[in-house]
Amino acid sequence: MNKLTIRKPDDFHVHLREGSLLRNVLPLTSRVFKRAIVMPNLDVPITSIDLANQYKKQIIEIERNKSNFEPLMTLYLTDNCSLKILEEGFENGAFFAAKLYPANATTNSELGVTSAKKIYSVFELMESIGMPLLIHGEVTDEDVDIFDRESVFIDKVLVPIINRFPNLKIVLEHITTDYAVRFVESNQPKLGATITPHHLHLNRNALFEGGLRSDYYCLPVVKSEFNRLSLIKAATSGKACFFLGTDSAPHLREFKESSCGCAGIFNAPYAIESYLDIFEKEEALNLFESFASINGARFYGLPLNEDYITIEKTPIKVPLFLDIQENNKIYGKIKIFHSSQILNWKVNENLDN
Ligand code: NCD
Ligand code: ZN
Repeated sequence: MNKLTIRKPDDFHVHLREGSLLRNVLPLTSRVFKRAIVMPNLDVPITSIDLANQYKKQIIEIERNKSNFEPLMTLYLTDNCSLKILEEGFENGAFFAAKLYPANATTNSELGVTSAKKIYSVFELMESIGMPLLIHGEVTDEDVDIFDRESVFIDKVLVPIINRFPNLKIVLEHITTDYAVRFVESNQPKLGATITPHHLHLNRNALFEGGLRSDYYCLPVVKSEFNRLSLIKAATSGKACFFLGTDSAPHLREFKESSCGCAGIFNAPYAIESYLDIFEKEEALNLFESFASINGARFYGLPLNEDYITIEKTPIKVPLFLDIQENNKIYGKIKIFHSSQILNWKVNENLDN
């Protein structure tokens, strides 16, 4: 197979940042994805209808006349989340879903939820109005090993939520373990999961290959080879509960190359090519459209996209960095996932076919 035509994909988990960073990274997402769930962990998190609307306006303004990209906005949950704001924002379309960050689990999560139990009334309301709950599934207890944070979260936090709110639609974001794969499978269709390109390509050895590789540091941290293989099986299975969410998370070079580097991998520029590399190796190219363009939309009850993209088997060399510009001046760089590597597939630049 040398050419693949699929419905335009959706990215159900992306960090677009704001200001000039947003202007620089957004086109790389809107070029290939019709819709994206935009994460709310900005420096000032999206905790109100006004903030969500302003952020959405910024995004739409940048895309005006360039694409028909549709951002799906999320509410950042805190211990003090107002039921009224949540319900009003969901009903009037300001929020598509709400995101639960355990406090201090990841980038800009300081104002996140300190204990899920504190916001059970929020979950109850979300269950009754049909609002999806998106979860960063890691505990933050100091005494839990970093590689176990996802599975402990499932046992201690997620199981009680599912038992108590059986009709709540939940997405366990960026799953990284075989344990999560099996848990999601056995709790579908109310539970779904996104899978990132980097968790399909990297195991934890990559973090230390020849030195400390901050480019491969993200959260949840990449796991063992056993877990990576399980994720590959899940993503390429065609099963409805697994769908595309890149978790593309750009950080300027200086914040990655630091004694305390930021978590996040910037994969937006070649995300589709990256996933396809895995699907091809698994001889599952025929299931890529389900993963990228169908399963997530169905899970969320969204219409399937009517546009198509073509991806051709053409080798491409991934550049090292994306230059970040403001007023035509380059002021920073962001390392691109797969930089300097050759990928075998390329999204056709003429995206209207
Ligand atoms: C994300 C970011 O930088 O916003 N980082 C990451 O490693 N994935 C936050 C997140 O999704 O955890
Ligand atoms: Zn994320």
